[in-house]
Amino acid sequence: MTPANADFQYAVDLLRNGQLVAIPTETVYGLAADAANPEAVARIFAAKGRPADHPLIVHLAAANAVDHWAENIPDFAWELMETFWPGPLTLILKKQPWVPEAVTGGQNTVGLRVPGHPVALELLRRFATATGPRAGLAAPSANRFGHISPTTAAHVAEELGNSVPFILDGGPSAVGIESTIIDCSRENPVILRPGHIAPEHLATVLDSQPEIATSNSAPRVSGSLEAHYAPRTPLRLIAENELPAFLETRQGHRCGILSHTPPPPETPHRWRQLPANPDGYAHCLYAALRDMDQAAIDLIIVEAPPASAAWAAINDRLRRAAAGSGR
Ligand code: TXA
Ligand code: MG
Repeated sequence: MTPANADFQYAVDLLRNGQLVAIPTETVYGLAADAANPEAVARIFAAKGRPADHPLIVHLAAANAVDHWAENIPDFAWELMETFWPGPLTLILKKQPWVPEAVTGGQNTVGLRVPGHPVALELLRRFATATGPRAGLAAPSANRFGHISPTTAAHVAEELGNSVPFILDGGPSAVGIESTIIDCSRENPVILRPGHIAPEHLATVLDSQPEIATSNSAPRVSGSLEAHYAPRTPLRLIAENELPAFLETRQGHRCGILSHTPPPPETPHRWRQLPANPDGYAHCLYAALRDMDQAAIDLIIVEAPPASAAWAAINDRLRRAAAGSGR
């Protein structure tokens, strides 16, 4: 799905005037503002209801804008960019002194990414043509703080309604969960948020598989809060072999079940079977959670996916969704 020329033009005009535009990316939809304009960035926090000390990712049209935003960039970080950009990988780097505090949450680092979505890239290129080659768009996921990230333009409208003047529709996000975040500002790279690009992919460029940070060692990352990505309906993760017995205890309740194995032939519950592979599952996950959240059910039950490394990013999101649900 490609927006019309006039839509891109309107989006660039809004951004140049310090206004917000929701944009499609291959991971999830983002809520974008001119990253060099602190007043514009402040509008993001207001629209999301997000605490002001949470840093934002700056989206760039190409890697040649990176040294405008970051300094002391290690060689391995350039190699990561070369290999994985445009794509679902965010690099945390030492920031240039001028980068607004509103973007970095007062930290001395900045998160940068070149997204792998043709509509996002086209917008970034046009924005750079209008403002200068080093232009960047600060964009967190386009949801209310703590809630499920949007993977379609319709989800953004549900989340933010009138607080976003324009939504650029680029169709459903292919990946479906947020980018992998790797901190390249320390001596050894550390994964702050697991995502579609897994440690073993990163190891093809780095000397070894980077560690996944524990919440104590991580700097402030709202995606690393224990409660995040959450539906309003309570959500519980139940092991595959415990699911039948658990459902016995829920008779008389209407539950929504997300499984990756086939449902029984008959069930009183709202049952949705997701693909049994991590990429397919990630692509459908947030839309399925949203759908369950809108159905009149008492409890969302997620059949726990395998505990293997391939499912790490999905298990991360599900654990935080369970912790933040029912509020
Ligand atoms: O896939 C994505 O990354 C999407 C799309 C729109 O690009 N964006 C996204 O943004 O997920 P957001 O704000 O919802 O999550 C970005 C995460 C936050 O948890 C934030 O704290 C972290 O990136 N982050 C940004 N800058 C950082 C920094 N300098 N140091 C540590 N964490 C940072
Ligand atoms: Mg988010």
